[in-house]
Amino acid sequence: MAQNRKGIVLAGGSGTRLYPLTLPVSKQLMPVYDKPMIYYPISVLMLAGIREIMIISTPQDLPLFQRLLGDGSQFGLSFVYAEQPKPEGIAQAFSIAEAWLDGVPSALVLGDNLFYGTGLPKQLRQASETSAGATVFVYQVADPRRYGVVGFDADGHVDQIVEKPADPPSEWAVVGMYYFDAEAPRYVREQVPSARGELEITDLAQRYLREGKLQLEKLGRGTAWLDTGTHQSLLDAAQFIGVLQERTGLSIACLEEIAWRQGWIDAQELEQQAERMGKSSYARYLQRLLKG
Ligand code: DAU
Repeated sequence: MAQNRKGIVLAGGSGTRLYPLTLPVSKQLMPVYDKPMIYYPISVLMLAGIREIMIISTPQDLPLFQRLLGDGSQFGLSFVYAEQPKPEGIAQAFSIAEAWLDGVPSALVLGDNLFYGTGLPKQLRQASETSAGATVFVYQVADPRRYGVVGFDADGHVDQIVEKPADPPSEWAVVGMYYFDAEAPRYVREQVPSARGELEITDLAQRYLREGKLQLEKLGRGTAWLDTGTHQSLLDAAQFIGVLQERTGLSIACLEEIAWRQGWIDAQELEQQAERMGKSSYARYLQRLLKG
């Protein structure tokens, strides 16, 4: 059930594709227009109704995330922090989080994935409330070779998931957001690293597929899924957010706003956060919300 599903944001990795930007600071702290990248995946968990969140990053970067995000109470959330000493695979998040998860289902989101779409909150909440063993979300992309990709059988059921295939079985890429039941940490313990030495998230999803417990959710063309793996895609993401925000006057992934609308913080707490944000446009946006 949604109320006890816990969230994990994986925000480690070496970030070498964005060097020299990411030599001194983690990729997931880079700006995407007016806020740090990690705000966007955190907003997705909040929209799914998830309030207990573990942030995983490298030993060097973790203190920076702590400085940015604190204990989460300003967003009506509860954050805990955990180190991933080396980037040994996305599925390793479940080994790191195992004790903290304490047998409850989870949602994992990659710290560099951005999602935007009107139907998205509803779709996220519904998937969060299903009893399926695992839910993966897929999105149609022009170049699936850069991602995990699903293949379908003649009846349209998913029959394979492959990581960065040279010859993709479909155009449907697996996005960086996954829902798993309480078995995920155990399955990861039984997993062996891939040829590139990583505990692959696609192997974990394959395990659920083999057990007949994998559900697939398509994110439609009304949803935007952006990643930030290259300098160009980072710029594209910032422009996308900037264009929408300037046009509508509404902020995307404003965590205080989401918390306030969900009733997790009250007007007084929102006011305090607006003061904390100094002379920024972000502060003015929070002030405007209070005026209604
Ligand atoms: O973005 C969606 C794709 O994410 C999926 O389609 C793929 O199946 C999945 O493997 C992943 O592919 P990437 O090529 O984006 O994986 P990458 O190694 O770049 O890691 C994604 C993010 O997770 C990145 O911000 C760094 C972080 N990470 C990665 C690894 C392997 C960690 O924090 N720790 C890790 O050990």
